[in-house]
Amino acid sequence: MMKVTVTKSSLKTLKSGMLVVPFASGEIRKGAVRTLAALGFDKAVLKDFKGKAGDTLLLYPAGSGLRSQRVLLAGLGEASSVEDFRKAAHAAASRAVSLRASSAALDCSALASWSRSTGESPADLVEVLVDTFTGGGYCFDRLKSGKLEKDRKKKKDAAPAELKIRVNAGSMRDAREGAARGAIIAEARSLARDMVNLPGNLLTAEGIADTARKSAEKSGCKVTVFDRKQIEKLGMGGLLAVNKGSHNPPTFTILEYEPKGKPLATVALVGKGVTFDSGGISIKPSQGMDEMKCDMAGAAAVIGAIEAAARLELPLRIVTLVPATDNMPGGAAQTPGDVITTYSGITVEVGNTDAEGRLILADALSYAVGQYKPDAVIDLATLTGACIVALGHSVAGMFSNDDEFAGRIYEAGRRSSEKVWRMPLWEEYAELIKSEVADVHNTGGKGAGTITAAKFLEKFTDGHEMWAHIDIAGPAFTTKGTGGSYGGTGFGVRLLVDLLRAWK
Ligand code: BES
Ligand code: MN
Ligand code: ZN
Repeated sequence: MMKVTVTKSSLKTLKSGMLVVPFASGEIRKGAVRTLAALGFDKAVLKDFKGKAGDTLLLYPAGSGLRSQRVLLAGLGEASSVEDFRKAAHAAASRAVSLRASSAALDCSALASWSRSTGESPADLVEVLVDTFTGGGYCFDRLKSGKLEKDRKKKKDAAPAELKIRVNAGSMRDAREGAARGAIIAEARSLARDMVNLPGNLLTAEGIADTARKSAEKSGCKVTVFDRKQIEKLGMGGLLAVNKGSHNPPTFTILEYEPKGKPLATVALVGKGVTFDSGGISIKPSQGMDEMKCDMAGAAAVIGAIEAAARLELPLRIVTLVPATDNMPGGAAQTPGDVITTYSGITVEVGNTDAEGRLILADALSYAVGQYKPDAVIDLATLTGACIVALGHSVAGMFSNDDEFAGRIYEAGRRSSEKVWRMPLWEEYAELIKSEVADVHNTGGKGAGTITAAKFLEKFTDGHEMWAHIDIAGPAFTTKGTGGSYGGTGFGVRLLVDLLRAWK
């Protein structure tokens, strides 16, 4: 991980591979123009740079006594929202990575005026900058040996090793606090991204349990892992059915965080942990099947979120529950038409073995509601391809039976830039998952695939009054063609952290 430090030393004496000078297009621009002059640059550069959010201009200092190798002007737009700062930090990080800058320094001398123009606290702004910059420097290269490179050093992480935040003396405390929080969130998201990026052979259900154990060690959470025997004893028929075709045992992992004082509420976070989804006997087409290593992104997000929440010492009791297995075909695999009995006792006709996520979530949701009596339950899952058809790759589908709760999740989505859009849970859709032979059918026919999946999950919440389901099939994973870096995005970590943080 990138090391983050806070300093008040002057921009000139600050040593870095790249000094990032954020630059607004409106009022605050004046200050930046002065900075530019102080750093020895001609204001003619401003002909080519208007400070639009996300725009950058790279400058090379010549004989001005600067101790930074490069200077990057980073547009903040109007500097009126967190989003402007995210865009600037992300663009700066991308430049730092592609130039292989050894370290970066970020000029936040204008922090107080940014705070006024956005209405955000200085610490929150620094948090966003640090979180986004670190995220922009994320690089999944642990599976590259470097053996085939002529220059073996190339294998090394291209992200800057250090990020220095430069503030005025009066902002040191705020900046330190924000930087520390930003680093915690960035670390948690990077854990989630690593998990998603690890393929099925390297992250099995047992691997997910091990990862959760390591995370718990870091965050001080309590961890419990049920193995196959315990899962059988508990009667988690959904998880066992999906696991039948596998050569790897299933796991069911629980992480618990208790705050120091009396918790405001108990929140259960449930995440789909399908380490690889071949579809099972209802096998998927081979085109793009490799992407189904991302099918545990819900699990990754809830593990990352509780790690961050615990390290941020949020005043909530949080329980994360992760049912995990791969979904494979084979002689022992479940077959279409099978009827299974879930943990709740509800029977399910498995019309399609590729609708496996809802089977394992069914057990986890019932278990969460029954065992922990949470005030709120949220599940995250790469549940349906139909959600990608509906909302594309940058927005998640959201369902809730509580309007006020749905509103809070929507707001957290806007604030965190991990957007969600609400879909209905109307009773019409329940008709579609009726079974002739069992209590419920695991698929709903042609239309409304995302909604029928949500209606299915709802049956396993035992009438809980504050439940939300977030289908992250779209934003969890980016393929080469769709821009951004390939692979896991960590979507959900920041969304959940922002939601939990705003709890009242
Ligand atoms: N894991 C998939 C959903 C998915 C698709 C996630 C694309 C990420 C990208 C899920 O298990 C699945 O296969 N869903 C089926 C449901 C259908 C059989 C009712 C789907 O979406 O086709
Ligand atoms: Mn599937
Ligand atoms: Zn799946």
